[in-house]
Amino acid sequence: MQFFIDTADLDEIRDAAEMGVIDGVTTNPTLIARTGRPMKDVVKDICEIVDGPISAEVIATDYEGIVREGREVAKMHPNIVVKVPLIADGIKAVKTFTAEGIKTNVTLCFSPTQALLAAKAGATYISPFLGRVDDISGEGMELLEQIVTIYQNYGFETKVLAASIRHPLHVVQAALIGSDVATIPHKVIRQLLKHPLTDAGLARFLEDAKKTPS
Ligand code: E4P
Repeated sequence: MQFFIDTADLDEIRDAAEMGVIDGVTTNPTLIARTGRPMKDVVKDICEIVDGPISAEVIATDYEGIVREGREVAKMHPNIVVKVPLIADGIKAVKTFTAEGIKTNVTLCFSPTQALLAAKAGATYISPFLGRVDDISGEGMELLEQIVTIYQNYGFETKVLAASIRHPLHVVQAALIGSDVATIPHKVIRQLLKHPLTDAGLARFLEDAKKTPS
């Protein structure tokens, strides 16, 4: 299972990259806006920190605009993945990007039918938003399971990228279902590490080590 970090904050990306557990990065317009910097500058910096797929989202919602923005951002670095919204013009643009060898991450996926369309257009990644489904009393994990099963049934090459992850249990469940990737906020990556028995056990070992003659 690959781990991407879901942030545009360079300090968070550096921290996770130093742990050696990060395979890529996803950003979105909300995360970029929080940095207060232009998207291209932020993405350029991210590419220098992490050597893996870096998702950068287009703002256009019409086919021509999506293709124009996507080509431009893809030119910036070979690791760029163009993030495209799951709308008709987006799917059409994914088909074009696929033919041109540009990698895509189809975002804002909330149903298995949407995921099927993205796979048929040749998307590199599909991003079901688990947390946002849970937010409206849906079952984010059921959506993830359906997509993984459907893709396996037909051998689609599109990778399933579990997104909108809110807590460690989401990561565990996504891993059990067999999601190819999880994109995880920095806070949750840190939470994956924590266990009170590890802390208590380490404190005890360190105390006992003081009693050992050197
Ligand atoms: C995915 O690529 C998105 O950036 C992200 O996971 C959205 O998460 P949120 O629902 O917590 O905003």
